[in-house]
Amino acid sequence: MDFRAIELSFLDWSGDALAIGLFEDAVELTGNLAQLDEKLAGTLKELIEESEFKGKDGSSAVTRVGTGSPIRKIIVVGLGKADALKLDSWRRAAAAAARLANKEKCKTLALALPVWHEAPDATAEAIVEGVELALYQDNRFKSETENKGLKLEQIDLLGLAGTEASITRAQQICAGVMLARQLVAAPANSVTPVTMAEAAQAIASEHGLEIEILEREACEELGMGAFLGVALASDLPPKFLHLTYKPEGTPRRKLAIVGKGLTFDSGGLNIKVAGSGVEMMKVDMAGAGATLGAAKAIALLKPDVEVHFISAVTENMISGHAMRPGDILTASNGKTIEINNTDAEGRLTLADALVFAEKLGVDAIVDLATLTGACIIALGDDIAGLWSPDDTVANQLLKASEMAGEKFWRMPLEEKYFEGLKSPLADMKNTGPRPGGSITAALFLKQFVKETPWVHLDIAGPVWTDKESGYNSVGATGFPVRTLVNWVLGDA
Ligand code: BES
Ligand code: MN
Ligand code: ZN
Repeated sequence: MDFRAIELSFLDWSGDALAIGLFEDAVELTGNLAQLDEKLAGTLKELIEESEFKGKDGSSAVTRVGTGSPIRKIIVVGLGKADALKLDSWRRAAAAAARLANKEKCKTLALALPVWHEAPDATAEAIVEGVELALYQDNRFKSETENKGLKLEQIDLLGLAGTEASITRAQQICAGVMLARQLVAAPANSVTPVTMAEAAQAIASEHGLEIEILEREACEELGMGAFLGVALASDLPPKFLHLTYKPEGTPRRKLAIVGKGLTFDSGGLNIKVAGSGVEMMKVDMAGAGATLGAAKAIALLKPDVEVHFISAVTENMISGHAMRPGDILTASNGKTIEINNTDAEGRLTLADALVFAEKLGVDAIVDLATLTGACIIALGDDIAGLWSPDDTVANQLLKASEMAGEKFWRMPLEEKYFEGLKSPLADMKNTGPRPGGSITAALFLKQFVKETPWVHLDIAGPVWTDKESGYNSVGATGFPVRTLVNWVLGDA
């Protein structure tokens, strides 16, 4: 798909579909819009009336324009209330217009959305993100190759001339989001620890990142007993992935991003029962998927920040080699863990990955994980949980997520709840009581970070969606690649 930023007025554009963005309760046709309606012999006014279009966020309508007109279809999209306008309003409006134009088999589309005058670049970036993310299709696992469905070839952003660099940026960020979506959507017989390592290797060679893949023996030498305990029952080799992006010159800061990488979570001997959603547990590597997606985007964007992308990748399976409930594991920082539930495996893999990350001497660590069902119970499917003992980095992430339109809610690191993890035998158990389950999970992780500012993100809900909405289609969302990218690029 080709994007062009041009100054042209919608009155002078010609092509398949013209999309006009309108605010809620402000759909009167005055000025230029009245002129356009006149040019279209009243079609625009008719469309608004007949579809009862009110400009509501995410709403859209389309109709055919009479022959002889320089445009074939006219589309209206709603931006919601003008005083509630956010970057995401542009993403969603652009997504709605692009979806509709594509459905109407248009090849060219002009987007005439209001421009945020203080930040035309942010406007263009949001629009391109909305279009790219909405039109993404995953046909990798379909045998039918015809009717792939992508008709749109060219999108013109009207009134946004000069924003070319932002368009490129948006495309680079979206390349990372698409990679994350592909990795998460692919089933566990396709995305395995071995193919995750290959994906990391491919990013490294394509974009010139440093890569280190630790095999089981190397992890043993580092004492990663928690990670390797989880890996025991898999027939596939565990892979500890470490990609590094280094800018030219001295980095402004050094960061680590650590993603949970369970390519499948059966629960282990505390096996997940029917009805627990076990058939969705291919998404349990979404943290690692977003980490690799962010790595790709960062490699393309080339900021002046050093970033380490880390994931301890394995499967949580069942066999005669499996770790047993009651086993005691020793993590790479020497702490001992009594396994009272083999289904709380993510925190075990993250424990060793966090210890590894801290040894790199970075300024901050963010981990992201599909860690607990409890977080979904607390915040629902659309909002991720955020925990941190450090207000500065927590606020950096919240700001980054606000810009990305990816929702997080800060949750408490209530130290008292660590009592629920006390073990009579070992330093801690791996699970506490059901109430506050996402909080005890965060407190568990905290045992593996000594002094580096650290943020934990529980993304179990938003990495997947069962319904199309905004710029997300059914399936993997690529959450929270754009938040991570904004955080790395941020000026903190
Ligand atoms: N991978 C799951 C969490 C999960 C649940 C991710 C739903 C995505 C959707 C995790 O490993 C897990 O099984 N957590 C347990 C923890 C419990 C045993 C303390 C859970 O949430 O039930
Ligand atoms: Mn589990
Ligand atoms: Zn899991």
